[in-house]
Formats: sequence, C-alpha cells, structure tokens
Amino acid sequence: MSALRCDPNKKYVWRGCGIPQETFSFCGHDVVIQESIGGGGEAAIIWPAAIILGRYLEANKDKIVDRKVIELGAGTALTGIVASLLGAEVTITDTKEALECTSVNVHKNTKDVRHTPLVKQLRWGADLHLYPDSDHYDYILGADIVYIEDTFPDLLRTLRHLCDKDTVILLASKIRYERDERFFNMLRQEYDVRVIKEVKEDEVKIYKAILPRRDVAAMPC
Ligand SMILES: C[S@@+](CC[C@H](N)C(=O)[O-])C[C@H]1O[C@@H](n2cnc3c(N)ncnc32)[C@H](O)[C@@H]1O
Repeated sequence: MSALRCDPNKKYVWRGCGIPQETFSFCGHDVVIQESIGGGGEAAIIWPAAIILGRYLEANKDKIVDRKVIELGAGTALTGIVASLLGAEVTITDTKEALECTSVNVHKNTKDVRHTPLVKQLRWGADLHLYPDSDHYDYILGADIVYIEDTFPDLLRTLRHLCDKDTVILLASKIRYERDERFFNMLRQEYDVRVIKEVKEDEVKIYKAILPRRDVAAMPC
C-alpha cells in the first residue's frame, strides 16, 4: 500500500494487481518506483517526505551537481534517485534487509546518469566501519527516518561519523509524536538546525543542519 497523498507531478497510480508501482516526473525523467519488494514493511513504501525532499533537490539542482551525497534509510530510494538524476555522486543506503527494494529501484531508474550511484548497507551505528573517516560527503539526506526512538542515539552517531565541517544534512520529517521533536532537540545540541521548508498538508518539514561555524574572525580575541 502506498503512503502517498498527492503530488502534482505524480503521473500514474497503481490500480490493479501485480507489483504496485508509482510513476513520477522528476528533472525531465519518469521515475518508476516499485513498492512492496523484498520483506516489505516501511522500507518498501514511498513516504511523502521522500517526494518533498526530492522536489526540494529538484528546485535547488545547481547546488548538487557533482556533489558527494549519501542517503540514509533510503527505502524505495526516491530521494537518492532524484539526487543521482541531478548529477550528484550518490551513495544510497539502508539496512541489509531493506536493500533489495532499494537496489531494484535505483538500478531501474539511474541507467544514464553522470555518476553511477552506489547502493550499500548502512545500519545506523553498526555499519560505520564500512564508511571510512576519510570519506567526505557534501550532503547527507534522510526522508522520514526519524520515527523509532531506540534508533535516535545510533542515528546521531551515524550523522556525527559522516558529517564534517562542510557537510549539509537535510532531513525531511513528518513530526508524528513528541519523541520526533525530541530527536531534533538532540540534534540542536550539536548542530545549527533550521527548518527550511514546511509542507503543511503533509505535516512534513525539511530540517537543515550544519556543524556550528567556528569562524576565527568572529571569535573574541
Ligand atoms: C519510513 S521509512 C522511509 C523510507 C524512505 N526514506 C522514504 O521516505 O520513502 C524509514 C526507513 O529507515 C530505515 N531504517 C530504520 N531503522 C534503521 C536503522 N537502524 N538503520 C538504517 N536504516 C534504518 C528503514 O529500513 C526504512 O527504509
């Protein structure tokens, strides 16, 4: 079942039997996403936050061409696919169990991109050894990944591991419960965090987080 409400650029809706799929128009491409692959569950559904973050990237496409991007908790990978279609060098991640759905969608939709995306397992906290400290990412993306309170410390640890002083974190989130707000309060303890977009109909906000600038010129002597 799809979690979609509406998207003006969604082209077709699955209405029959067979494999549920949705087609979107992004950056002049048809992006065809298959849901319910593999174990199913929340990773095999397109969540509104993924579309909203994808549209945000599309509207800011000049910023991400040739940039190094990593997507966390990608699920059907709509956001990472859009980043890839826009010319970014993208690593698309999720848990090992969820990656079948991720892989199928990524490979189907990124045949003629500038940089072939990498699909790779990343369970927050546990798989950080697969991501060397020396790797730099310009953007860390996450759509609807703030929802299980037990994962918050590992998610924060993962962001800390992947982020450096030039990294921008973009998290699109539906705030469902008080605990989701608690995550962003935890995030504020380490990063400068701003809401850069809000889509009221879907109750989704895009948060931008960067490490605080320790600008020498601005420091008291
Ligand atoms: C609500 S889904 C969102 C999927 C996709 N980003 C979207 O918006 O359509 C949450 C995603 O986070 C992933 N996830 C949950 N816990 C995780 C963990 N501990 N480590 C890595 N990914 C996790 C799930 O597998 C799932 O793909």
